[in-house]
Amino acid sequence: MSQPTPQDVSISTKPAVMDGLKGVVFTESKLSFIDGEKGILKYVGIPIQELAENSTYEETAFLLFHARLPSAAELSAFDAELKKRRAMPSGLTDLLRLYPKDLHPMHALRTAISSLAMFDSSADDTSQSGKLEKALNLTAQTATIIAALFRLQQSLEPVAPRTDLSHAANFLYMLHATEPSPEQARLFDIALILHADHGMNASTFTGIATASTLSDMYSSITSAIGSLKGPLHGGANEAVMDMLALIGTPENAEEFINAKLEKKEKIMGVGHAVYKFFDPRSRVLKEYAEVVANKHGKSVAYSTLEKVEEIVVARLGSRGIYPNVDFYSGVVYSDLGLPKSYFTPIFALSRVAGWTASIIEYTHKNSILRPTANYTGPAEAHWIPLEQR
Ligand SMILES: CC(C)(COP(=O)(O)OP(=O)(O)OC[C@H]1O[C@@H](n2cnc3c(N)ncnc32)[C@H](O)[C@@H]1OP(=O)(O)O)[C@@H](O)C(=O)NCCC(=O)NCCS
Repeated sequence: MSQPTPQDVSISTKPAVMDGLKGVVFTESKLSFIDGEKGILKYVGIPIQELAENSTYEETAFLLFHARLPSAAELSAFDAELKKRRAMPSGLTDLLRLYPKDLHPMHALRTAISSLAMFDSSADDTSQSGKLEKALNLTAQTATIIAALFRLQQSLEPVAPRTDLSHAANFLYMLHATEPSPEQARLFDIALILHADHGMNASTFTGIATASTLSDMYSSITSAIGSLKGPLHGGANEAVMDMLALIGTPENAEEFINAKLEKKEKIMGVGHAVYKFFDPRSRVLKEYAEVVANKHGKSVAYSTLEKVEEIVVARLGSRGIYPNVDFYSGVVYSDLGLPKSYFTPIFALSRVAGWTASIIEYTHKNSILRPTANYTGPAEAHWIPLEQR
């Protein structure tokens, strides 16, 4: 049977490869604006510093879902919606009890978010309103799941969510079974605001890629969590704490950094695919890390980081390598009683709003994501029987 043959196939015309898709524009978005050269981040036009100072995670999530600030009535209704959805399905709690106690929480979280679909009879509703429903559930319940995982791993019973606390305060309450101080709750709220969205970062892109096939929101967020886990992305905050433990004190920082750079190894928590100057989120977190360090005498970690920052800026600043969001966040989280293996899950706890908002925005005018690769294999080859190879 004769096969149709393509008329004009040329494998010699090869468009330039954009390494890591950097600088490739694949969509438009109203959510995050980033100027990597100047170190600027805005959500829907509002500078991140203004949001950190004045907003709440709930208000920021509304801003991302609706691309505008809410009125007082809208904010209160949105807050009530999130609170109503905080409890996770009891079947999921039963499943979490079966997870190995030494499982890394990111593996556990990814599996738990995937399992949520089993308890949602409308999991496959990919209408825009259906996706917003899932987005609200996921934003509310990711916190509950992480807190339950944290407690079950220590053989403690999960603590049911309260509806009289903010998203940030309720998470800390579910974690430790005690209400946090207003200062602790506010500090955590600010960390959540800072991590809520960040343009087309690897995990948001991954989530969008999954959603672009018209797959469901749970599959998309499960994919995004898998992407966030890597040490070049969300896993860097944990890696910074490992690095701090190796350095020990500020006096050892210079020798440590020199040895790393000589071996061409990366310093964790510095460098960014987009920022070629200070990541603005790192400046806000540094401010709070300093407050925390001075208040509780945890200054060794903080002063060591300050020293590393000074060396990195002097040695690598001319190459556009500066501290990123993960550099100081660990010091802040440690002070809130969070172990380092939970730093990346906490990133997910916040970013879930940005992921779901970006998916809703992209799929409004969906186009399946399907980039291409320049073929570098043989121009023509033929199958050879096994005995002749
Ligand atoms: C975030 C990151 C992946 C961005 O990467 P990128 O823009 O693709 O840059 P590359 O990894 O290609 O690195 C480009 C150059 O800068 C150097 N560089 C980048 N980040 C560096 C770091 N953290 N420490 C030392 N050198 C670094 C690379 O070694 C490379 O040098 P070369 O050109 O001599 O080979 C990268 O900076 C990194 O790995 N940082 C550490 C992990 C981290 O903190 N991630 C959290 C990001 S929010």
